[in-house]
Parts: sequence; structure tokens; C-alpha cells
Amino acid sequence: MTTRRRILKLVGGGVVLAALGGTAFYVANAPSDEARIAWREAGTPAEYRRRFLSYALLAPNPHNRQPWLVRLDGEDSLTLFCDLDRRLPETDPFDRQIVLGCGAFLELLSIAAAREGYAAEITAFPEGDPAPRLDRRAVARVRFAPGAARPDPMFAAIGIRRTNRNTYTERDVAADLLEQLAASGSVHDVMARTTGESGLVAKLRDVTWRGHETESLTPKTMKESIDLMRIGKAEVAQWRDGLVLEGPMMELARMTGMISREALLDPKSEAFRMGLDMYRPKAASARAFVWLVNDHAGRASELNAGRAYARLALKAAELGLAIHPWSQTLQEFPEMRSLYDEVHALIGDGKRVQMLVRVGYADPVIPAPRRGLDAHILGEGQS
Ligand SMILES: Cc1cc2nc3c(=O)[nH]c(=O)nc-3n(C[C@H](O)[C@H](O)[C@H](O)COP(=O)(O)O)c2cc1C
Repeated sequence: MTTRRRILKLVGGGVVLAALGGTAFYVANAPSDEARIAWREAGTPAEYRRRFLSYALLAPNPHNRQPWLVRLDGEDSLTLFCDLDRRLPETDPFDRQIVLGCGAFLELLSIAAAREGYAAEITAFPEGDPAPRLDRRAVARVRFAPGAARPDPMFAAIGIRRTNRNTYTERDVAADLLEQLAASGSVHDVMARTTGESGLVAKLRDVTWRGHETESLTPKTMKESIDLMRIGKAEVAQWRDGLVLEGPMMELARMTGMISREALLDPKSEAFRMGLDMYRPKAASARAFVWLVNDHAGRASELNAGRAYARLALKAAELGLAIHPWSQTLQEFPEMRSLYDEVHALIGDGKRVQMLVRVGYADPVIPAPRRGLDAHILGEGQS
């Protein structure tokens, strides 16, 4: 049963919806437009670095935390910091994935700059590598050199790229498209590998699903995600980040108390079971996978993996492919250890797997919220 039908059945939906005013309820509870303004405003700031940044903040990033803080330096440079409060300590205990999200941001920044002829000269972790976790030191310094870059065709895909978590259709991805994806993600010393071969796809579907279950059934990692869920239009518009549960059905479920943070955290609740039931067919519908590997030599290699992922995601958007990182098995919390080892034995080839992503075709999704440029720019004296 679809989530929609299930919610309607559970809350006696027909009657409830009629009481709430049917169509008017649907219209009033459509996904928040306000939370997505940044997608429309990209490219509008007058100052050139702000203009490039207005595209960079559309980058994919873990749990949509958008942890980017930027200090504009002088007339031609900037420094990127990570907002340390926006990390994911339970699922990402060494901040590896958060750094990947910073890499994706830098790649989009660089593509946006190149469109106007500027080369973004990026120095990764200029004050040294923070370990085992990030600290207040800069993630990257960027200087923009005019007239030193040529436009990158990937620019056109920035505004249409999405993470697509829908169930994928039963349509295979042609080998030449997978090759194009692999080529786009094989940059910055990262190698992108793909498979559409049914035996390996079946194994990867299975292991990614078990990773999803493990994260959901580990109370502290599940709580981290639940805390970042934005349930209903008002929360989405207020936060403009995190994992959104939005739209008329979710609103109905929220209003009737069927979905709440408490219920989502309780493995015995209907809401918790529904969450798992909603994701199971999605994992089972993966038609192909792509993954990124590298030597994982220091923080710069994490930034590089994020940069490679951004290019791969843009290429997927250009090719009309749906993609969805399913990366729980790559996370370094103790309960995931055996699945981490299993995935590395399966596809790691002696390297570090940095991203694992399902690929296919699916109904389109709307853009994820963004907090907007002002949320990322540090004022004088802040860092
Ligand atoms: C390093 C990294 C890991 C991610 N892991 C997952 C994941 O395990 N599951 C998932 O649904 N999305 C994952 N995502 C996708 C983000 O949740 C997504 O980029 C974010 O919510 C913003 O949405 P957008 O990509 O549509 O702009 C990941 C993204 C990055 C960069």
C-alpha cells in the first residue's frame, strides 16, 4: 500500500479531509515555496563572489545540514569554514561526510566562477588537517583569478540537480550512460565505478537496505535523523534544512498525531514501521549503482570525493537519471562496522569507498530547501 493510501486509511482520511476542506487543504499544505527561494535567486547577487556562492549553496550535502560558513577576504578571495554545530556526530563521527558536502560546495563554486571566466584556486585545509574531528580551522581558501578559466558545460545542470528518493521504475540504465557517469565522477584523484549487472546490483540492494535498517534500529543514530526531520510546512519554512516530511498527507498525519518525533523514534509504533516500509521498495528498486573510491589520504581526499560526487550528480541530472546516495554502510559508527567491512570487501578493491549511490529512473522531485546566502556569510570579525 502506498504511504498516501496508508495514511488516509489510518486516519480515516476521506472523512477527515472532507472536514478540513478537501482541495483547500491540499493547496494550503503544498510544499513550502518559501523554503526554496534560493533556487530561484541563484545568480542574482551583484557582487561576484556572492553570485558564485549563490550557486554553491545548492550543493548536495549530508542531511541537508548546509554547514558552510564563508568569510569574504579582500577583493578576490574567500575562506570556507564548517559550522561545527551542523555536523552529524552519531552517523558521521569523524566528520568525513560533512567534508564531502564541503567538497561538493567548492565544486559548484568553481563551476559557477568558471562560467564568468574566473578560475577558483582552491587550497584545501590551509592551516593543516584537523583530526580525528574538524575544528575551527579553515576548510579551504579560495582565490578567484579572472580570465583564467573557461565555462564548464556542467553549469547548466546546477539548478536541475536533485537527490531523488522515489521508487525507481523498472527501466535499466544503458551501459553508455553508466560510462558517462563514471567518467564525470573520475576526477580529482577519485575513481567512479558503476554496475548495472543484476547479480552485483542485487547484492548492493541487499547490503544498502541492511545498512538502512541498522541505522534506523540504532537509537542514537536514528535520533540524530529524527531530530533533523522537519515535519510539516511550518517547520520546513522555519528551518529550511534537514530531512523534510512535507505535503498534504504528511500534514494530515502530523495533525492527527500519527507522525511525531516520539512515534518515529519508537520501533513499535506504526509511524516507525511505516518509515521502514516506505524505504524498503525504494532500496529494492535500484537499477544500477555508482560508487566513488580513493586512497583516503587526509582531509583533502575527502574534499576531492565531494567534488567528484558533485560532478557525477550534475552529469546524472543532465542525462535525466535519478540518483540517491545510500551511504549508511559507509558510516563509521560501531554498530555499522560489519556492514562497512562487507561493502568494502564487495566493491572497495582495496580502496576507501566514499559514496555509494543508487541510479535509475523515477518521477521527478522538487528541490530540497536551502537556507539562503545570508545564512552562510560571516560578518566582520566572525570565524
Ligand atoms: C556525503 C553525502 C552523503 C549522503 N548520504 C545520503 C544518504 O545516506 N541517504 C539519503 O537519502 N541522502 C543522502 N545524501 C543526500 C543529501 O541528503 C541531500 O544532498 C540533501 O538532503 C540535499 O538535497 P538535494 O541533494 O536534493 O539538494 C547524501 C549527500 C552527501 C553529500
